[in-house]
Amino acid sequence: MSTPVSEAAEAQVAIDVDRVSKIFPGEDAVRALDDVSVGIRRNEFFTLLGPSGCGKTTLLRIIAGFEPPTMGALRLDGTDISRLAPDQRPINTVFQNYALFPHMSVARNIGFGLEMLGKPKREVNETVDRMLKLVQMEALKSRKTSALSGGQQQRVALARALAPHPRVLLLDEPLSALDLKLRKEMQIELKRLQSETGITFIFVTHDQEEALTMSDRIAVMRDGRILQIGSPRDIYQRPAERFVANFIGESNFLDATLSAGHVTLKAGGGAFAVTAPPGVADGPVSVLVRPEHAAVRAGSPAGDELPATIRNVVYSGDATTIHLELGSGELFKAKMSNSTGGGATLPSQGEPAVVTIAPGAVTVLKD
Ligand SMILES: Nc1ncnc2c1ncn2[C@@H]1O[C@H](COP(=O)(O)OP(=O)(O)OP(=O)(O)O)[C@@H](O)[C@H]1O
Ligand SMILES: [Mg+2]
Repeated sequence: MSTPVSEAAEAQVAIDVDRVSKIFPGEDAVRALDDVSVGIRRNEFFTLLGPSGCGKTTLLRIIAGFEPPTMGALRLDGTDISRLAPDQRPINTVFQNYALFPHMSVARNIGFGLEMLGKPKREVNETVDRMLKLVQMEALKSRKTSALSGGQQQRVALARALAPHPRVLLLDEPLSALDLKLRKEMQIELKRLQSETGITFIFVTHDQEEALTMSDRIAVMRDGRILQIGSPRDIYQRPAERFVANFIGESNFLDATLSAGHVTLKAGGGAFAVTAPPGVADGPVSVLVRPEHAAVRAGSPAGDELPATIRNVVYSGDATTIHLELGSGELFKAKMSNSTGGGATLPSQGEPAVVTIAPGAVTVLKD
C-alpha cells in the first residue's frame, strides 16, 4: 500500500518512464537503455547528465516518440502514450542543430508549426508576437534566420518549440554550439522561460556545471542506466557512487575503514561520523572529500588533523588549490577561498603541513 506522500509525488508526475530498455539490434547489438525508470514532475527543470554514449538522446527520442522502446512503458499525466506518433504527443523538441528554415523570417519560423496545425491567422500572429517578446527577438522578427547569430537562432528555435504550448519540452544539448559567454546568458534565459511558461523541461547535457546551475533535479546516467536522481545539492554533496562523485565536481577519494557509523582514514586523523549508503558493510571502504571541505596550514598535526607534505600550490584568482601528499602516500587536493585569506600564509612546496577536514565532509561511497 502506498503512503500519502508517495501518492502526492505520483500525482505531480508528468512523464513517467517505467522500466524502459532500448536495444538497437544488429550484429553488434547495443543496449542503449537498460531498465530505466524515472518520474519527471510537472513544471520541473529536469536534466539528464552523463558522458557521451550513455543513452541521453535515446531516452529523449523515446519520450518524443521518434523511437519505440524495446521494453517498458511511457506515460504522460497517467496516460499511456507509447503508441502515439510524435505529432500526437503534447511534447516538443529543440534539437542540437536547431533545424530552422533559413530562408524564412524569424516570425514565420515561429508560426510555421501553428500554421501547419491549421490555426486561424489571427491566433498564429498573436502567439508569434507573444513568443517574440518572450525570447526578446521583437526587433528581428522580419529577418531571415540565416542572417542571425548562433544565440539568436537558438532563441528562435526555442520560441518555435514553445509556440504550441507543449506540456513538455525536450532540449538535447541546445547550448553546446555557443561560446561560453553566450552560453551562460542562455542558461539564465532558459531558466526564466521555464519558470514563466510553467512547462516541464527535460534538458540533456554532458556539462556538469550547466546541470548543477540550471536543474531542479538531475539524473546521472552511465552505460544506459540511471545511477542517481536528486537535486543538484544531493548529487554534489551526497553522491551515491564513485562514478557520480568523479563526474560532478572535483574529488578526493581516500581509503578508509567503516565501523559503527564512523570512518577512520588510512591517512590518519580522528574518526568521522558518516551515514553509509545502504548495502555498504563495515570494513574497508572508499570515501569522498571535496577539495573545498579541507583546509591546510603549516605546522605539525594536533587532534584530528592529518599530516601531509605540500607538492604544489596553484593560485586561480578566487581560490588557491593546494596539492598534497598525505602520510598514507595518497595524493590530496585542498581548495581554499582567497576571500578569507586562506591561501596567503601557506607553507611552500616540500614543507610539512597539516590538513583539517570539515565535520560532515566525509562521504562513504558505494564502489
Ligand atoms: N540508431 C542507432 N543504432 C544503433 N546504435 C545506436 C543508435 N542510436 C544510438 N545508438 C547507440 O546507443 C548508445 C547511446 O546513444 P545516445 O545517442 O543515446 O548517447 P548520448 O548519451 O546522447 O551521447 P552524446 O552525449 O554523445 O550525444 C550509443 O552507444 C550509440 O552508439
Ligand atoms: Mg546525444
